[in-house]
Amino acid sequence: MSARAEHIQALVHLMHTTPRPGQPAVLRAWLKNVESDKGEQWNTEFGTDSLFSAWTATPMVQGLYEANRAVLAEHLEGRDGVQLVEVGAGNGELWRDPRFATLKADFMAVDPVAGAVEQAEEAAKAHGWNARGVVGAVPGVQLPEADAIVCSLTLHHVAGWDAQERARHGLTGPGKKEALQAMAESLRARGGLLLLNEADIHCDLSLPPGDPVLLDRIVDSYVRRCGMGLVRAMHGAPEHLQARWFTILCEWCVRQLDVADASYADRDVYELDVGRWMDLLVEGGFEIVERRNTDSVGLFFQYVCRAV
Ligand SMILES: C[S@@+](CC[C@H](N)C(=O)[O-])C[C@H]1O[C@@H](n2cnc3c(N)ncnc32)[C@H](O)[C@@H]1O
Repeated sequence: MSARAEHIQALVHLMHTTPRPGQPAVLRAWLKNVESDKGEQWNTEFGTDSLFSAWTATPMVQGLYEANRAVLAEHLEGRDGVQLVEVGAGNGELWRDPRFATLKADFMAVDPVAGAVEQAEEAAKAHGWNARGVVGAVPGVQLPEADAIVCSLTLHHVAGWDAQERARHGLTGPGKKEALQAMAESLRARGGLLLLNEADIHCDLSLPPGDPVLLDRIVDSYVRRCGMGLVRAMHGAPEHLQARWFTILCEWCVRQLDVADASYADRDVYELDVGRWMDLLVEGGFEIVERRNTDSVGLFFQYVCRAV
């Protein structure tokens, strides 16, 4: 058995046999024994050979894209000159699909990382779309009137429910609600749709650094669900993907436990659970038209919303 297979077998065994309160400690001990190529940090590199491209090839992320493509294809069918926005562009993988080839669109990608914006623009230009990239972060970027905004696995990077909650925790500026209000504003005129994709896990500002509940929730989303989903996906996958998924399992899932100790300024994960995302969407000015889980591990949910 290869060293990698042994590490995976040990991890699965630990997760199945250790009661929840003991799991963070055994995971940290497991990680110390694992040789993994640290490669790159989460959400920093978006080229075709990046770990991010391996991440977008996982069944969990492919399921999410498929759900988004199906809704977009139906919503945009027969329309001409559609206005599309992706907030948090990643590598633009969502748009690399022949279903979009016949669409005539203006496309805008917003992302604080220039490499991500370039990748999304490239994907849009391959369809002959008029593509515009903005290196910036929401809330704060002026969004155009749109027929659809996709905000996938991105809004959880904005800390706090709203400006008030942020202020209570010593942070300035707007929060998630204000970001959603700006998206609703840009969708209203054209009767557009928001497609929001997020994990079902509450770890926002009300859980302070070092809180054991925060740690348990990070383990729940990144290891019990995402990590075990990766392990399942590895069976029978091509070697080059297995190798990179193993690095993701170690460096982006198990090492994510460190997030629980990071200060508010350094933490970049501020998720909500399904009920809270739904309440926030309504407060942000949306009606939720559809909601579905898009993977087999109960991790990511798609919310299809119309501005009211
Ligand atoms: C997990 S990736 C998701 C990418 C893509 N939407 C997908 O579903 O594959 C999150 C992306 O959001 C970007 N991002 C982080 N904070 C953001 C913000 N406040 N506004 C816009 N994009 C942001 C990151 O740089 C990264 O490209």
